[in-house]
Amino acid sequence: MNNPPIIVEIIKSGNRFNAWDSSGKKWTTEIGTGTRKKAYNAGMALERRTGKTGKTYWWKVSMDNFKSTPNLPTVNTNEVEVPEGHEEVVDFIMNSYGLKPAGLFMNELKWKYLIRSAVRGKNIMMTGQAGCGKTLAAKSLINALDRPNFYFNLGATQDPRASLIGNVHFNKNTGTYFSEALFIKAIKTPNAIILLDELTRAHPDAWNILMSVLDYGQRYIRLDEADGQATIKVADGVTFVATANIGNEYTATRQLDKALLDRFTVIEMDLLNDEEEFDLLTYMFPTVDSDLLNNVANISFLTRTESLTENARISSGISTRTSVEIAGLLFDGFSLLESVDITIYPQYDASGGVDSERTFVKQIVQKFVSDSSGDELFTDHDIEVEDETA
Ligand SMILES: Nc1ncnc2c1ncn2[C@@H]1O[C@H](COP(=O)(O)OP(=O)(O)OP(=O)(O)O)[C@@H](O)[C@H]1O
Ligand SMILES: [Mg+2]
Repeated sequence: MNNPPIIVEIIKSGNRFNAWDSSGKKWTTEIGTGTRKKAYNAGMALERRTGKTGKTYWWKVSMDNFKSTPNLPTVNTNEVEVPEGHEEVVDFIMNSYGLKPAGLFMNELKWKYLIRSAVRGKNIMMTGQAGCGKTLAAKSLINALDRPNFYFNLGATQDPRASLIGNVHFNKNTGTYFSEALFIKAIKTPNAIILLDELTRAHPDAWNILMSVLDYGQRYIRLDEADGQATIKVADGVTFVATANIGNEYTATRQLDKALLDRFTVIEMDLLNDEEEFDLLTYMFPTVDSDLLNNVANISFLTRTESLTENARISSGISTRTSVEIAGLLFDGFSLLESVDITIYPQYDASGGVDSERTFVKQIVQKFVSDSSGDELFTDHDIEVEDETA
């Protein structure tokens, strides 16, 4: 019996040229880089052929051939690439710290746990306070693993059904028809990594839709809960990575349903300490004066440690995102005082005058900022930050 020809399309992702057949199977590793690149540049597909000696090779064919290949309804599980051999997988995970981009500060154990969870097909939930690198870590994971990926910002989703399932449209010639959402395509893609950013900010309807998708025992989505039986299975090897602000500052916002949270392996992003923050800022802005960057790191760190104390006078610390923002302003010629003025102060409530959170933060800042105008806001004895006794 003659098997249908195997024809792949080349899709560029970053600087890689990946080869996919129409059933979603990836052939990249079987085809030389040069061959893939040439086909991509020529806008052509590649067909797998067998030569007289029995060796297989890949031959450029028109893209029309790719489209005419049957769209297989289901993917045979044998065809999905799964890492082979336990030893290989262990080796990959244990050596994966090299895959972490230098610009992401995350300790080795957590990064390896992240990689391991993805390789093992776990649903991953990155938690931690605002601006501590959750989204950055999730995106870095996606870049590190050479797999098809999809990004959904659930925090920005107004209509969960339309974004996750699709819309019913009407056409006067053909009647009503259903156009499926990108999310459906994503879950049908074998080995896809699907980023569900800001899951905590999503509409509860979105959580309900995701329940069965994320359940290891179910892994399907129902297209129309009202009358239809149609369900779509999550393809093999799909990994979900969600991010959520679950920190002490967020207890007031919607609590993520316990049952939904239960479906995830939770990886908590740590807050950077002053040294790490300084290293990050220096890495990002090597030309900015290091004393200034050191001050930024110290201001952030002091606010964070204060916010975590029992009788904290401020409810939250300055995030790494804000530190990076300040360093960027310094880089663009703003002074430290100006940078702090526009980025930090608006985050703190000014009501209550001298007892306000803003006043307290100003006191911390003043220790590190030399204000050339000379009109000091506070005298030294007003400042009650820890290292005073030093
Ligand atoms: N651990 C970190 N390593 C490197 N950069 C970081 C880190 N944390 C924060 N940053 C910087 O702060 C920016 C914001 O980080 P990111 O968007 O990942 O935060 P987040 O935790 O997803 O925040 P939110 O809770 O608001 O979604 C990043 O673009 C990066 O510049
Ligand atoms: Mg985020």
